[in-house]
Amino acid sequence: MDPYPLNILMASPEAVPFAKTGGLADVAGALPRELARLGHRVCLVIPRYGTIDGAALGLKEWRRLAVPTALGPIDAIIEQGTLPDGRGRVLAVRHDPYFDRAGLYQEAGRDYSDNLERFAFFSRAVLELLPILKEESGWVPDVFHAHDWQTALSLVYLRTLYAGPSPFHGLRTMFTIHNIGYQGLFPAMDYWKTGLGTELFTPKALEFYGSVSLLKGGLVFADFLTTVSPTYSREIQTPEFGFGLDGVLRERQDRLAGIVNGIDVDLWNPTADPYVPCRYSASDLSGKTVCKAALQREMNLPVRAEVPLLGIVSRLTEQKGLDLVADVLPELAMLDLQVVLLGSGDPAAEARFRALHAQFPRKVGLSIGFDEGLAHRIEAGADMLLMPSRYEPCGLSQLYSLRYGTVPIVRRTGGLADTVVPYSPQAIREGRATGFLFGEAAKDALLTTVLLALRVYAEGEEWKALIRAGMGTNVSWAKSARAYVELYRKMLELR
Ligand code: ADP
Ligand code: GLC
Repeated sequence: MDPYPLNILMASPEAVPFAKTGGLADVAGALPRELARLGHRVCLVIPRYGTIDGAALGLKEWRRLAVPTALGPIDAIIEQGTLPDGRGRVLAVRHDPYFDRAGLYQEAGRDYSDNLERFAFFSRAVLELLPILKEESGWVPDVFHAHDWQTALSLVYLRTLYAGPSPFHGLRTMFTIHNIGYQGLFPAMDYWKTGLGTELFTPKALEFYGSVSLLKGGLVFADFLTTVSPTYSREIQTPEFGFGLDGVLRERQDRLAGIVNGIDVDLWNPTADPYVPCRYSASDLSGKTVCKAALQREMNLPVRAEVPLLGIVSRLTEQKGLDLVADVLPELAMLDLQVVLLGSGDPAAEARFRALHAQFPRKVGLSIGFDEGLAHRIEAGADMLLMPSRYEPCGLSQLYSLRYGTVPIVRRTGGLADTVVPYSPQAIREGRATGFLFGEAAKDALLTTVLLALRVYAEGEEWKALIRAGMGTNVSWAKSARAYVELYRKMLELR
């Protein structure tokens, strides 16, 4: 327990178990719980999407308020609950016309046209909660930690519309970039909907080549910036990875750090996972064999213990480099192996994998869609996980793989480079190697590395060493949450 607990207000557009489109939800669900476990008093604010099962998750109406926005006051119902095990308070901002929709940010691959309004409203609602929390229980946050473009405006508002003497004057702010490829870009003619003065629509603040960039607002106005791995924190300062914001980040490099994500070791636990047919641990992997057979059955593949099974669980976007997998699949399908893919996203990528599945039905298992249970069963049942990302801020799937004894084959970028120790005979001898890495985002580099992995798999002894080292890796949040607390404290000392 931390002897000097902090009050931490966190805002995220998604969080497990309430709403999830990607790894951000895992982080925003797990980090507050871990901070609470360390003794800090955390309040997480999320939008109350219509897809959230409020009754099952224990959300109940708490307050009603009118949120001032550029479009006039907009009513919000604030629902209250907790994260699992009662660790950490959750407030969900409800305004059904904005959030009671089939998707979080988009439908059928098209962004909602009013995303700027929706998240400007949410960002202001977060700040409107401050006086209410203070009045209710005297709770005043020391730190406000916001995640991704959807919450970035709250950091801008705090230093502009909400600046001046107030009990929240000393509040320090942290902004975490989970993926700089998603910036919340909107046409200049919609700028007025932010409610901010035109003096902020300049390249020094929210303007990005003639458009409005919400993410940039967060980068400029937050006291401290973090991203989700040290390597990615360096990569985004280069033109190759910065998506046009590398200059802004270089200017703020003394306020930018990278902290690798952990995983929720209660939710992702091969010894107690409710989604998998048989539990197992590092000391007895027999259950993993049962999981593999069940996965082969579930994916309509021949049930064979000896055949190497490669799993993929991923959003289907350019970022994830799965076009490289599609490129090499015809060659891989010549070999005795199986590939299972769970993913959804880009319609063209979905169609391409459907065609490959039809072409190689006994080699390629496919499930297009979002399926939490199947994601767990692939992590448990596969021998290897493929993650050939072009860039990867952190990546969680490879961390789940390590914990489930599934050897990751990943591209050397971002958090993948920081979390997987590459195979080499020496690294094996030293008990450090946990997976396979390749450098170039090219079909041949991927193929060569998969072939190496298959050789090591066939050999057997070294493979066991990889599994052992992977399962022995500490991937829990404990260390990362402490790193965040250290930064929070450092921030509190900043002038
Ligand atoms: P990103 O956030 O960029 O998508 P991460 O590796 O950080 O990548 O996190 C992805 C998360 O989303 C993991 O928890 C993974 O299991 C999950 N996921 C991705 N695609 C699917 C899917 N189709 N069905 C279920 N879970 C998925
Ligand atoms: C983003 C990134 C992913 C990261 C996740 C959580 O979605 O693409 O690499 O793991 O955020 O931080």
